Amino acid sequence: MAIIIARNLTKKFKELTAVDNISLEIEEGECFGLLGPNGAGKTSIIRMITAVSPVTHGDIWVMGKDLKRYPREVKAILGVIPQMDNLDEDLTVIQNLLTFARYFAIHKDVAYRRSLEILHLMKLEGKRDSRIEELSGGMKRRLLIGRGLINAPKIIILDEPSIGLDPQARHMVWQKLRELKAQGVTQLLCTQNMEEAARICDRVAIIHQGRIVDIDTPQGLVAKYMGSQIWEIDLVSVERDSIISELESRRLEFEEFSGIIHVFSTDNKLIEGLPGTARAATLEDVFFKLTGRSLVE
Ligand SMILES: Nc1ncnc2c1ncn2[C@@H]1O[C@H](COP(=O)(O)OP(=O)(O)OP(=O)(O)O)[C@@H](O)[C@H]1O
Ligand SMILES: [Mg+2]
Repeated sequence: MAIIIARNLTKKFKELTAVDNISLEIEEGECFGLLGPNGAGKTSIIRMITAVSPVTHGDIWVMGKDLKRYPREVKAILGVIPQMDNLDEDLTVIQNLLTFARYFAIHKDVAYRRSLEILHLMKLEGKRDSRIEELSGGMKRRLLIGRGLINAPKIIILDEPSIGLDPQARHMVWQKLRELKAQGVTQLLCTQNMEEAARICDRVAIIHQGRIVDIDTPQGLVAKYMGSQIWEIDLVSVERDSIISELESRRLEFEEFSGIIHVFSTDNKLIEGLPGTARAATLEDVFFKLTGRSLVE
């Protein structure tokens, strides 16, 4: 059963259409990723689904509840981790958690117990009574993620969960997300981190200029758009024009960027004798193919 349904969702800011008539169904228990370049509309989608920003057109249902009619009920079901840190600088770490619990009318004893669990989960026990300004950027991020769990949500929505985290903390967060998924918590996240999407998402939607370009499993997208491998020819060590005419005469599909030619072919015969190296195709290749290589802004 779909736990989140978005139908014909549109978000306009004056004349700018940030989200352009998208439809999505997120299944209970899955981890669903929104992947797209800066300004693609990911945060705008998430802000509508979390009832933070009004919908211009379209409908959203969360666990069968119409968001327009039941915004407070929907908010109570969701755990939300925003893109920007909005921790209360005047409070300590534990006070941030306890205060946040009050928005959900969680009983004091339960809130205290859960706060300690969250500090343990996010490895912040040692910072329990520290003020927010005493935390590093990564610690704030972990606290923000933990805070989103205070209402023991059935669905968590994360906007760029691992931004600003070092590799250790990033892997820790991915592990926690996998554990939550194993407990049946549905996850919707947006990210620009391809590794994150490929590792933790069951399905991803590639978003470009407010629209969904495609939705599939990470492996499905790679297989569909890229095949299994990519042949890379570094132009530093070869003569560009002759290699390009060679590729053209072999009728190979290729692209040149950042001084490297990328040949998209799974047929080893066609590549035989060319300089270069093979590497496995990744979600990042799909991302570039579907959203372009240049900066949009
Ligand atoms: N409050 C706002 N007022 C006006 N325009 C906005 C507002 N919020 C977002 N936009 C515009 O909507 C578009 C989509 O922005 P959004 O924040 O949803 O992108 P994003 O995919 O989350 O990007 P990023 O990866 O940079 O976080 C952008 O063109 C942005 O400038
Ligand atoms: Mg964003």
